[in-house]
Amino acid sequence: MVNPSILPIMKRTKHPIIVNEDLDMHQFGQHLRAIRIGCGLTQAAVSKQLNVSKGYISRLEGGKARPSESAVRRLAEACGTDPGSLLILAGYLPGDIRDIFRQYPTKAPAVLRETFRDNGYETEERTGIAAAVAEPHAVFQANEATYDLVQGDCFEWMERHQADSIHAIVTDPPYGLKEYTDIEKSKLRRGRGGVWRIPPAIGGCVRRPLPRFTVLNNDDKQELAEFFRKWGERAFAVLVPGGHVFIATNPLLSQLIYTALLESGFEKRGEIIRLVQTLRGGDRPKNAHDEFKDVTVMPRSCWEPWGLFRKPCEGRVQDNLRKWKTGGLRRVGLDQPFCDVIRSSPTRSIEREIAPHPSLKPQGFMREIVRAALPLGEGIVLDPFMGGGSTVAAALAVGYTSIGIENDPQFFAMAKEAIPRLAALVPNGQPKERSSRISRGTASTQPTLFD
Ligand SMILES: C[S@@+](CC[C@H](N)C(=O)[O-])C[C@H]1O[C@@H](n2cnc3c(N)ncnc32)[C@H](O)[C@@H]1O
Repeated sequence: MVNPSILPIMKRTKHPIIVNEDLDMHQFGQHLRAIRIGCGLTQAAVSKQLNVSKGYISRLEGGKARPSESAVRRLAEACGTDPGSLLILAGYLPGDIRDIFRQYPTKAPAVLRETFRDNGYETEERTGIAAAVAEPHAVFQANEATYDLVQGDCFEWMERHQADSIHAIVTDPPYGLKEYTDIEKSKLRRGRGGVWRIPPAIGGCVRRPLPRFTVLNNDDKQELAEFFRKWGERAFAVLVPGGHVFIATNPLLSQLIYTALLESGFEKRGEIIRLVQTLRGGDRPKNAHDEFKDVTVMPRSCWEPWGLFRKPCEGRVQDNLRKWKTGGLRRVGLDQPFCDVIRSSPTRSIEREIAPHPSLKPQGFMREIVRAALPLGEGIVLDPFMGGGSTVAAALAVGYTSIGIENDPQFFAMAKEAIPRLAALVPNGQPKERSSRISRGTASTQPTLFD
């Protein structure tokens, strides 16, 4: 982010100037890596174009070196992208941006604050509970990442898949059972009826359809519990000892899912609270709004629970970490453990445009939990209910190998296109669209490598 306090020290020059010499370069490294992968280049190819060593590119992507301004420009050119975002993340303020600040010293910072504060997953002010939650700027390790996309039924896939081979599962399943049946999906796609409802537009914004969980009766709930018991058994088999499951739920149904997972052999390791304002709840009694003006039927939900479970470790955690690379969670930083309350915004419109799935989760939040899921940054993350691909994209962005499974052909095609583009997004920024070389996740059960 541009810090307006540096403005007074700016000199008049057409060239970018250094705005922060002590900048942590990890965000730059992560962004560079996402751009490079997004345009289908290897580190070796970029190093050749710049006539530098591959090790130097690797150090840049690992946030361990700071490039000169001209090196940033050459990197951007090699990746066919505008240098603006790379310059800013490397601590250089592009000349045209600097001119805007000079011309509008009051208005420009005000417009930036108005536009971005609280709008993405980076905010300047943190108050109350948000001040104590996990730091949103996890240091993303820049490894080469690969991903594999499978179109099919995750139950069948997990049954076939080798036992003890997946290191973490991060997923957002269909809770309602009904909402992702063919008939309900066709109603959703027609924009009418079914369990999908369109919440009222607020402030002129078009809202996304939400599934109506309250339509579940007791039989549906029993069926749901059975669904998760079967799912839990299969998840338990494919995970290595000490492997974690992060599973999105909602406050009305989480107990059913948690019980089913405990019955499948998992240990409950806590709950991640995604602090997010939703439109659920807070209504007055139906058809009696005027009579009971002061009554709310249920609280307006301001959080989303994600169950955190673990397959028991083999021996001590340290033994398990050595043998299976699992058992714990990855720290945010040396001084900061992973915390269980994460402030989050609803999914940004830029992400929803890339992947218009009705349940798309935001990259800011997904990258934090996916990163935490592999304590040593090694192994494979699985999302058996991939949807629009937010988990796989987050894994790609943080440099983890992942597998996504989706049984709906339309959602599968959407995810395939969306994953590299979601992975290339930066907090509060949007990269240039790149060539078709970005879509290299194949629709097969074969490993999908970038190179
Ligand atoms: C709640 S959505 C996941 C959305 C995802 N978190 C995202 O950010 O886009 C659940 C997805 O699981 C898919 N699904 C449902 N049953 C499945 C199954 N048995 N195997 C694979 N995918 C399934 C649905 O089609 C739906 O896209």
